[in-house]
Amino acid sequence: MTINQALEPAIRVLGIEKSFKDLHVLRGVDLEVKVGSIFALLGSNGAGKTTLVKILSTLLKADAGTATVHGIDVAANPGGVREAISLTGQFAAVDEVLTGRENLLLIARLRHLANPGEIADELLNRFSLTEAGDRPASKYSGGMRRRLDIAMSLIGSPPIIFLDEPTTGLDPQARIEVWQTVKQLADGGTTVLLTTQYLDEAEQLADRIAILHQGTIIQNGTLAELKRLLPAATVEYVEKQPSLEDVFLALVGGDAAGGTAPAGRELT
Ligand SMILES: Nc1ncnc2c1ncn2[C@@H]1O[C@H](COP(=O)(O)OP(=O)(O)OP(=O)(O)O)[C@@H](O)[C@H]1O
Ligand SMILES: [Mg+2]
Repeated sequence: MTINQALEPAIRVLGIEKSFKDLHVLRGVDLEVKVGSIFALLGSNGAGKTTLVKILSTLLKADAGTATVHGIDVAANPGGVREAISLTGQFAAVDEVLTGRENLLLIARLRHLANPGEIADELLNRFSLTEAGDRPASKYSGGMRRRLDIAMSLIGSPPIIFLDEPTTGLDPQARIEVWQTVKQLADGGTTVLLTTQYLDEAEQLADRIAILHQGTIIQNGTLAELKRLLPAATVEYVEKQPSLEDVFLALVGGDAAGGTAPAGRELT
């Protein structure tokens, strides 16, 4: 990494717009993600989370605005961006017929790495899949499959990883396992941008949380900053802090299609 990249944010998004025919999905999205941090993009179904992730991972082109990932412009040098990232999509990329180990070997070979066997074994161990490594992925639980999916995306050690709804459809125990994995990644210096509809997931994991609503980021801050947007509720002598869910519902009006952000109290 150059000095320049160390100072720059891992991801910088400025004025990104994207429409699908008449549907104006992204209407000027701005955000920055610090190197080594976990950034959660929160939004209702259809808010445009996957669309933004696809633009940042060079699978889609924006209509307007600029974005750099690892200091590289996504439009000018998509190949350079692809070398710096991995994407774990909303739907798992695991091959069900292959074993966990074979899935990892396949990706390591596709990436022309010198020691695919060692890489596969190290990842199986890191994701607590060693015992299951020789079983077909079709026999894995949802949480194991997700962990394998994330392990596959780490082959080649990309500095930036996109996780699009990493725990959708998982049971609470499997979600916690994936959360631990994501925390370990960030502790190791990887920058993580994840999308989620689960407010507790953002609350548990993220250093910063941005709320995407009606095409723009309507709030962006730390959990503490977002919670300060609402006054603390009090019940007799017990003070209750608003949860992120309270903040989210107040901001989007409890109605994904029709709510608007309250005026004022913008975070900087
Ligand atoms: N290729 C496409 N062609 C037309 N419309 C699209 C396309 N991709 C996405 N859309 C529309 O853009 C909007 C945003 O979709 P997107 O998948 O980004 O939402 P999301 O926030 O990821 O939702 P979810 O939480 O359901 O995953 C939706 O209305 C979707 O139908
Ligand atoms: Mg999505």
